[in-house]
Amino acid sequence: MRYPDEIVEEVRARNDIVEVISSYIHLQKKGSNYFGICPFHNEKTPSFSVSPRKQIYYCFGCGSGGNVFHFVQNYENYTFPEALKLLADRAGITLPEIEYSEEAKKAKDLKTELLKVNKEAGKFYYYQLRSDSGKTAMQYLKNRGLSDETIGRFGLGFARTGQDLLYQYLKKQGFPDELLKTCGIFQFDEKRGVTDKFWSRVIFPIMDVNHRIIGFGGRTMGDAKPKYLNSPETPVFDKGRNLYGLNLARTARKNNMILCEGYMDVIAMHQAGFNQAVASLGTAFTSGQASLLKRYTEEVLLSYDSDTAGVKAAIRASQILKEAGLRGRVINLSPYKDPDEFIKNEGAEAFQERIDQAENSFYFEVRMLERDFDLNDPQGKTGFAEEVARMMLRFEEQIERDNYIEGIAAKYRMHPESLQKLVNKHAMQSERIVVRERTRSGIHDKPVQDPGIDAAQRMLLAWFADDPAVYQAAKPYVGTDDFSPGVFRKTAELLFAQLSDGEADPAAITTRFEEEEEQQQVAGIFQTPLPEEQSDGEKERTLKELLINVRTHSIQEKLYDASSGADDLSRMIALKKETEQLNRLTFHFK
Ligand code: GTP
Ligand code: MN
Repeated sequence: MRYPDEIVEEVRARNDIVEVISSYIHLQKKGSNYFGICPFHNEKTPSFSVSPRKQIYYCFGCGSGGNVFHFVQNYENYTFPEALKLLADRAGITLPEIEYSEEAKKAKDLKTELLKVNKEAGKFYYYQLRSDSGKTAMQYLKNRGLSDETIGRFGLGFARTGQDLLYQYLKKQGFPDELLKTCGIFQFDEKRGVTDKFWSRVIFPIMDVNHRIIGFGGRTMGDAKPKYLNSPETPVFDKGRNLYGLNLARTARKNNMILCEGYMDVIAMHQAGFNQAVASLGTAFTSGQASLLKRYTEEVLLSYDSDTAGVKAAIRASQILKEAGLRGRVINLSPYKDPDEFIKNEGAEAFQERIDQAENSFYFEVRMLERDFDLNDPQGKTGFAEEVARMMLRFEEQIERDNYIEGIAAKYRMHPESLQKLVNKHAMQSERIVVRERTRSGIHDKPVQDPGIDAAQRMLLAWFADDPAVYQAAKPYVGTDDFSPGVFRKTAELLFAQLSDGEADPAAITTRFEEEEEQQQVAGIFQTPLPEEQSDGEKERTLKELLINVRTHSIQEKLYDASSGADDLSRMIALKKETEQLNRLTFHFK
């Protein structure tokens, strides 16, 4: 499922990056660029630049950058297809229907219909809560400290007592039984007929990241069991791949996400200003949810209940986070049961303090483990050390393992060497990690990349994009393989291809990189500041210097690869020759 490149390009061409970004943040013209306060990190003076000519943005402060798609993806936290849709709509372009197979088309239609049912059901509950029959439910929510605004923001509703009120309502709207059977909020029974799932419950609509209702949770207002009733999984409701509150949290722009257990916790946190809070959907946290979170953040703070079940769930969740490559920290809520209670009693500032003090999740886990052992008893302490050593095997990077061994040894007064030995022993047994001797640095180790060479390559590429005449003059003396493999070389290949056909189009080049990090690097290359107003003589000197730099480095690399045994002398001679040649050249800029 991919849109053709021409469509993508057309959407990009019809959305001027300055106009689009201006609709989000204030930009001011300065020279050939526009500048503003970067929306992706905290700053007071503008280092966020937008180039109308190159159609890219780049922040000199935090290094985020890319073309108009990337901006929308980053700002809205959208996937590429979502950003494409938004920008196509903005430009009045209708995206072509992607061709579906007959089966896929049916599945898609079913999903669309289910979402319609959910939307109507959500509306029904919403109005019930605000009608006369919803008074006690409204009072219940108010008593729990929710404001009208919060109740509205989460679209809360109410299902009053009645056999089939919702069913009748939806039937009147023409939805067929077959569909209503699939949506999970009715019971179809031969004898009793159709009944609504939710009776006399406060309703929490569950939305996906695009604010579409995919399921419902219903809470009793009294002691009825179960306390919460959740709608089952359906073709649109995958409990392992959605999170409650994520539709709001995804644009929170905090540097973390808070994961809690309950819907009410999420709501209370958002009301207190912690709008980065989400919860799993009445089921345990899954790796699918972890990868979902990874789209938006690098650090997840766990705010689980402080009871035994909560601690256990928090430990499991932090392991899942770690496997997904997310940093985890655990918020201490004591003496309260859950974040909702904490905030009600202590307020938002106190909660913020707990966030700031949140404990590294590995340390948390070790601290919980400690409870099972008597550390004053040598045998107890040994058992504890064994267990901790086993846990250390989760860290695949040696440096990370070393740091934790050091940290834990200091914390629990153990000998780091002994702990290290225990870790090695377990590693050997489990063979999950290979404990290797460090490679000795030999003479034939590759030289470390000199930062100057990056700067030279960057400058050369930016200059070529800016001034095709410079490219024409330099073309005979530099090839794409003179640029370092990876982002530099691929950028050179794409740029040289464009330049030989005419104009450079940096934004189109950025599109060709899949990874966000690469897109940023490319934007950074093209936004490299160039020397202003040079005479032809100065230009020539600068160009020579850059070419010599880039070529020398490239030749060095090639010689190195070709002759890992050859003596340095022949390397020097070849280099010297080439440098002299380059120095003798004269360039003509048309
Ligand atoms: P309040 O009691 O209203 O404050 O709710 P809470 O959000 O604190 O809920 P709790 O910590 O008791 O439970 C956390 C989450 O687990 C809830 O939001 C539900 O998703 C789910 N849950 C709780 N009780 C039940 C239950 O009886 N059945 C089911 N299926 N899920 C439940
Ligand atoms: Mn609660």
